Amino acid sequence: MLSSPVAIDSKLPWVGTTIFTVMSKLATDCGAINLSQGFPDFQADPSLFDAVHRAMLAGRNQYAPMAGMPELRQGIADKVAALYGMRYDVDSEITVTAGATQAIFTAIAAFVRPGDEVIVFEPVYDSYVPAIETVGGKAVYSRLLFPDYQPDWDHVKSLIGPRTRMIIVNTPNNPSCSLFSVEDMSVLAELTRDSDIVVLGDEVYEHICYEGEHQSLCRHPELAARSLVISSFGKTYHITRECARSDMHPINGSLWTHYLCGWGFEIYKRAFGRLPSRAADPRRRAAARRRVGAKPKGPTSSRLAGRAGRPMRSC
Ligand SMILES: Cc1ncc(COP(=O)(O)O)c(C=O)c1O
Repeated sequence: MLSSPVAIDSKLPWVGTTIFTVMSKLATDCGAINLSQGFPDFQADPSLFDAVHRAMLAGRNQYAPMAGMPELRQGIADKVAALYGMRYDVDSEITVTAGATQAIFTAIAAFVRPGDEVIVFEPVYDSYVPAIETVGGKAVYSRLLFPDYQPDWDHVKSLIGPRTRMIIVNTPNNPSCSLFSVEDMSVLAELTRDSDIVVLGDEVYEHICYEGEHQSLCRHPELAARSLVISSFGKTYHITRECARSDMHPINGSLWTHYLCGWGFEIYKRAFGRLPSRAADPRRRAAARRRVGAKPKGPTSSRLAGRAGRPMRSC
């Protein structure tokens, strides 16, 4: 290994080797069945590989537009509309990303600023907290209640305050497999109503649901209007390696891995500009603070001051 003259200080020194790396290596070393990491031990449909091969031979292997191939985004929009009844705008609300981890990081980087708080549910998928802390945010934890790993909404309510910028919802949940119910979605809508909180939905396991029904945030118009929803081609078609960094879809001539619905491509722009804020309206700010029981603040001292921009759009 080359020795480098450059001192490399980790931004997140407490983040060690991921649990997936540790457990997968242990499983390989011991010849054990690997239940720790979310990949299957069977092949994907061969027609998928044929289609990818054909697309590459047809020359569809150069840069895709930043947001993903238009035909692919159209396909995603149609699929989400058919499944969840929510019609997203193909050009501004759907983005194809290189993996859900990139989608998660991009969404957090776009919305969370230094000092902002993000509520996460424990046990928590391992990439959320490093992403939050990398951008200067603070993770605030609410434990899913044993034995069914259901959210404790009274506790979540007690955590919401003027600094809360985002709540991350992972349903179906990794690792507990629990699902948010219709009632959970209603409570979440109630708790975030009239606030400036963004909901980030990690729904990569939406199609791996053996009991009950997956409640996508996209099904709930009030929540969808403040949510970014992450889905996964890799998980759905069990091709977590082959496609992990690709953007080509065999059907549309490009093969996507994961996609993000909500503000889609807008989030890239907003990451470098002013964020939308319904809380720019002082009456809304005051109402939001009253709802979460926070002390009143003058408009100039509000952390939200200066965030005035376009209002949050509904999807
Ligand atoms: C809940 C959850 N979100 C996101 C991801 C990341 O997906 P990707 O490998 O596409 O980055 C995983 C992968 O295991 C996951 O379990």
